[in-house]
Amino acid sequence: LSSLVLWCLGAFLCGSIPFGLLLVKLAGKGDVRQHGSGNIGATNVSRVGGKALGIVTLLLDILKGFLPVFLAKRLGLGEPVLALLALWAVLGHVFTPWLAFKGGKGVATALGVALAFKASMVLPALGVFIVLLLVFRYVSLGSVMSAAALPLVLLWKGAPPMVLLLWSGISLLVIVKHHENIGRLLKGTESPLWGAKKEKA
Ligand code: G3P
Repeated sequence: LSSLVLWCLGAFLCGSIPFGLLLVKLAGKGDVRQHGSGNIGATNVSRVGGKALGIVTLLLDILKGFLPVFLAKRLGLGEPVLALLALWAVLGHVFTPWLAFKGGKGVATALGVALAFKASMVLPALGVFIVLLLVFRYVSLGSVMSAAALPLVLLWKGAPPMVLLLWSGISLLVIVKHHENIGRLLKGTESPLWGAKKEKA
């Protein structure tokens, strides 16, 4: 049991590194939380610090989710444990202790853990994301819908109940963290990724 606790703690700490905030600070562009949507994720980093910084944030946030689950998988840990570690990595990003437990929305980190957990579950969710983004231009809409799609894909693939439960937790976490985005989407005031004034988010 104690080694399971250590694995969870490791995944949490890995997920907790606020790459977006650090990169924007290092680039001398201030505190990303004071601009745009106020989020520390890749979407807002690209609003505040430019596309390249956004892409680097996206990759690093994917990596910090990917690594702990990938490592555990390589060491032969079972699917329920991998799903538990996936949840803890996303929790680390969403409730990072380094920012008074106010972290990001978990999208890129969830993508990273999903890639390590079962790469084949990512493709349908990514499809949902890309289609919605191209049609509506809102990252948040794509994020919420693809997060919702992940447990459904696992259900379709016949995953056991514990794995489904843990992935539903990840999905719910991502969706709940988008509550402000969902409000803006419903009011029609959400900021699209392209084709709108940059300062409004
Ligand atoms: O990854 C978060 C994205 O879905 C929304 O980001 O900055 O528009 O709230 P943002």
